[in-house]
Order: sequence, then structure tokens, then C-alpha cells
Amino acid sequence: MRENRPIVALDFPSFEDVKSFLALFPAEEKLYVKIGMELYYAAGPDIVRYVKSLGHSVFLDLKLHDIPNTVKSAMAVLAQLGVDMTNVHAAGGVDMMKAAREGLGIGPKLIAVTQLTSTSEEQMRDFQNIQTSLAESVVHYAKKTAEAGLDGVVCSAHEVQAIKSATSKDFVCLTPGIRPAGSAVGDQKRVMTPRDAYAIGSDYIVVGRPITRAQDPVAAYQAIKTEWND
Ligand code: C5P
Repeated sequence: MRENRPIVALDFPSFEDVKSFLALFPAEEKLYVKIGMELYYAAGPDIVRYVKSLGHSVFLDLKLHDIPNTVKSAMAVLAQLGVDMTNVHAAGGVDMMKAAREGLGIGPKLIAVTQLTSTSEEQMRDFQNIQTSLAESVVHYAKKTAEAGLDGVVCSAHEVQAIKSATSKDFVCLTPGIRPAGSAVGDQKRVMTPRDAYAIGSDYIVVGRPITRAQDPVAAYQAIKTEWND
């Protein structure tokens, strides 16, 4: 199931920024990119159509969370856009996740966010009133995600092994927070190198700033891709 291209997080504020960034790459280099809320809400569905028209693959990271019927209809719209992967919050429940799958159809990958990595165990206990460890909550949500028939979860690379052993080795783990050795960590708290992420069984890695803010983004991308596949 492992994807050999690192997913590039297109965390840019506008369509024009994306155009300039993608123009750096040779036309035959087909990327797998992540489009998140900022870009999608700024540029609209046309950004997905544009990126797809260049032959790239798209993970649309909108983290849907609403009543099942609304999520199902929204997913049907995203399927029309030709996304290759998208996601929901597992906290929306099994019925919502099943509805998301129905709306999206079986082609594109559908994954869930368990606990956001910005949530601390203390916050989870106080605010969500979930009285387990954060790690247990993440595994619990992952099992429910598998039960709902989704493909996998977004998780920290540090959680991959526990999630796969609680679900199955084919359950997709997509991991952000990846940093090649020696690059700036930024606001990420627990990072892992592409090589280590490969070793612990990540299926997809998401890399943003180490590529988008590099002096030479194409060279940075190639180096990370090589490290991920070595
Ligand atoms: O620039 P950087 O490599 O840190 O970007 C990582 C991307 O993955 C960002 O788009 C960020 O929002 C996303 N992400 C994350 N951690 C999560 C979920 C998503 O870094 N737990």
C-alpha cells in the first residue's frame, strides 16, 4: 500500500503561489500534493481541478465533521472533483464515516483524523472528558475507523505501530511531521525522518515546509523522495 512519492503539503495562501511552485517541477514529474483548508477556501474547487489537470494526485485535507447526510453529499461533490484521497474526523462517528464512504464511492482513499496532534492528553481529559491515555484514544478511534470501512488514519509516525497492530497491516497510516535529518523542525513537536517513517511502516508521508520553503524545492523534494524509498 505504500506510496513512493512523499505528499507535498501545498500550504500556500493563493492560486498564484501554487502555480509558481508547481512550475518549478519538470512537467513529467507527477507529484502527490495535499491541499488543505486555507488554500481550498481561498482558491475554491478550481485549485483541485487545476492540479489534477497537470496530472498530479490530490489529497484534499478538509477534515469533514457534520451529520452523516451532509457529509455524504459533500463527499459526492469531492468525488466529482477527482480527488485521490480525502478525510473526515473520526469523532463524527461510525455512521458519519460510513456515510462519507457512500458519498465518496470506492475509488478515492478515505482516511480519518483521530486526535489532532495539537491536542494534549490533559486537554483531552478536561475538554473532551475522555478519561484514557491519548494513545489509547487514538487507537480506539483507529479501530472505529477500520470498522466503518475507511482506508486508514492520519497519525503521528510514532503511533503507526500501535495502530497497525490494533487494526491490520494494510490499514493506511498517513504521517505528517516528517523532517529530513538536519532540517528545521518549525512548530512540529515530535518529528521523524523519512527513513525512520519508512522503517516503522508509514504508508504515506506528508512534507510541507522542508520542500516548499527550500531554496531549491525540486532538489529538496528529490532528496526526501530518495530517502523515503531507500
Ligand atoms: O510544513 P510541514 O511539513 O510541517 O507541514 C505538515 C502539513 O501536515 C501541514 O499541512 C499540517 O497542517 C499537516 N498536519 C500536521 N500534523 C497533523 C495533521 C496535519 O502537520 N497532525
